[in-house]
Amino acid sequence: MISLQPYNSFQVKSHCDSLTQITSVQQLEELCRLTNDDVHILGGGSNSLFVNNPGAVWLIDIKHVEVVKEREEYQLVRFGAGEEWHDVVKYAVANNLGGIENLALIPGKTGAGPIQNIGAYGVELKDVLQSVSVVERSTGNRLEYHASACAFGYRNSKFKQEWKGKYIIDSIVLKLTKADYHTVNTSYGAIRKQIGKQDAVTIQDVFDAVVSIRSSKLPDPKVIGNGGSFFKNPIVNLDVYHQLISAFPEAPSYQVDEEHKKIPAGWLIDQAGWKGKTIGNVGCYEKQALVIINTGDATGQEVLEFSAMVQESVADTFGILLEREINVV
Ligand code: EPU
Repeated sequence: MISLQPYNSFQVKSHCDSLTQITSVQQLEELCRLTNDDVHILGGGSNSLFVNNPGAVWLIDIKHVEVVKEREEYQLVRFGAGEEWHDVVKYAVANNLGGIENLALIPGKTGAGPIQNIGAYGVELKDVLQSVSVVERSTGNRLEYHASACAFGYRNSKFKQEWKGKYIIDSIVLKLTKADYHTVNTSYGAIRKQIGKQDAVTIQDVFDAVVSIRSSKLPDPKVIGNGGSFFKNPIVNLDVYHQLISAFPEAPSYQVDEEHKKIPAGWLIDQAGWKGKTIGNVGCYEKQALVIINTGDATGQEVLEFSAMVQESVADTFGILLEREINVV
């Protein structure tokens, strides 16, 4: 039995039967051809809550960075799935390439990014993703999908739906815009506030602002076990929205389309009285209620039970069902 505690950002005690570190795409192709047994694919473990023993685990640790195309306005850069996502963001910023500076400090590895289409501060991975290279689990064949084939949506993609378990991501290609041609995205209020009144806002300025906002509001998973947002922000129809607003006129919301609004789950959980509340070894983070934290020695089961209580309480108070963003294993 091998401990998975160092490999999951919730830091829950959990074990697997075997752990295979995969460092090259050739090794990944060979392993896929060799065995068709059930395996659990692990990247940075920042979106997985281990409740049961997953059996055999493959740790994707494929690392490389390569400029695959250079044009006047942009570069296409391929990053191995095992690169730390924040290192990828730092690489882009250091090379004066724009597009992912708003996605600074998102925990996890690069290969996990497309699965849930990571997003923050007005930018989603899909906005800069050119293509995704995958190895088919059942055959070991390598394929490259253009981003437009992956059905990206809010924290969603084909990798979470019909392609679930079918492919293992080995690298991604990002289209990063050179600074002179890049328009920074400061649409998010918190970023504008952080940067202040400044004429020329650089890629570095936005990166610094995001790092500063995230560090002040979100717990560092190396210090306090957590998996970022535990739930997705629910998207509700206008009937539900109007009911909510008539009872809670101050409720924040974002327009999704003409018939739908997105309600911040953090606000719902906060209003239901959970912010900063701890039961046993699990709690809702005091500065952002959407983040469930392991305050000590929690098991995955305890975290899951706590999250179910939060879910039930929000459903009772608002009639809105929160859907998990975290993947329960
Ligand atoms: N709010 C509260 N109480 C709280 C938390 C939030 O009232 O305890 C309110 C805030 O005042 C604000 C609203 O809820 O009006 C939204 O909060 P925030 O700006 O913190 O963003 P979020 O919607 O809670 C999302 C992403 C985060 C991402 C931020 C910034 C999801 C599920 N989460 O959070 O992503 O960093 O926006 O773009 O979409 C993650 O996925 O792990 C993650 C951290």
